[in-house]
Amino acid sequence: MHQGRTTLSKFLIQQLKGAPEQSDLAALLVDIAAAVKAISAMTAKGELGGVLGSLDSTNVQGETQKKLDVMADRAFINTFSMGGLVAGLASEENDDPIEIDPQDGSGRFLAVFDPLDGSSNIDVNVSVGSIFSVLRAPEGRAPVMADYLRPGSHQLAAGYAIYGPSTMFVLTVGKGTHGFTLDREVGNFILTHPHMQIPEDTSEFAINASNERFWEPPVQRYVLECKNGRTDVRERDFNMRWIASMVADIHRILMRGGVFMYPRDTKDPSKAGRLRLMYEANPMSYVVEQAGGIGSTGRVRILDIEPEQIHQRVPVIIGSRNEVERLERYHRDYDSGVDEKYSSPLFQERSLFAS
Ligand code: F6P
Repeated sequence: MHQGRTTLSKFLIQQLKGAPEQSDLAALLVDIAAAVKAISAMTAKGELGGVLGSLDSTNVQGETQKKLDVMADRAFINTFSMGGLVAGLASEENDDPIEIDPQDGSGRFLAVFDPLDGSSNIDVNVSVGSIFSVLRAPEGRAPVMADYLRPGSHQLAAGYAIYGPSTMFVLTVGKGTHGFTLDREVGNFILTHPHMQIPEDTSEFAINASNERFWEPPVQRYVLECKNGRTDVRERDFNMRWIASMVADIHRILMRGGVFMYPRDTKDPSKAGRLRLMYEANPMSYVVEQAGGIGSTGRVRILDIEPEQIHQRVPVIIGSRNEVERLERYHRDYDSGVDEKYSSPLFQERSLFAS
């Protein structure tokens, strides 16, 4: 190990000096990194660790739970329970928030997380991740639901881990977005990507194109124009990527730009979108905004949404500033009736991949 490497702990001591709450937040982020290391070790074992495959159970979303979903959830819950810094937690895998009772009653924070995002990729050995969000706990009393249901702009810290060829931990405490790579030999996260910046322009978009017929016209318009490339208004060719693991798709966008969309669609009218506000859209929007990008539903800034439910779903359009702004403009045009062309039945029948 050469001198001058910045470990996660060293970085957090520097970023979060000052008030006691700040050093507790640094300690909590170190705890989260410890859970991430445990999950990284589990995912890396694959079939040899007996961790692949599904359980008989489903989570509150009605999704079949994978073994690793549950193991990762336990890794986080154990870490938070033992750490004494968290008064309560909520995760994708649990119907209701769980109250934690640190013995000295000092839990200053609430942790909200998706322990293993993109879990359909586990069994096929494609990158998955964990996403977390830290909120302030109430003082002097146990947390209630309203304490969790704060807009994303109230997050004290947020980030994700990606379990790919290397394991990375990417976080923000509101002072930029910074990436750390796990040095497996010594078990430390090392600052490798300080001050990540998402390029404002991009020629790459990410969307599950099989849902095209369910999208709203502004998204259909945007994707059609990208697909038409240099033969249409965009005057350049675009590339499409879809990993089906939000963490991996957003990580790519942080590294080289792009726009990620899981927009409102009509596939299941009871759902406003697919992704969850509290532990997917909010933390990822915070990370992306701190790196110069935008997180939007197409109509409003994600971080301004007043949450109504812990497992609430929202449309997500996130990434390079100029592309997200263009998509917001297309939504405004559509909503105000300026853009009749893209609400006509004729347009909606055109296939994304038709020549
Ligand atoms: O549940 C969230 C998630 O797995 C994201 O990580 C990912 O972006 C998305 O769902 C994949 O959705 P689909 O299965 O429609 O491609």
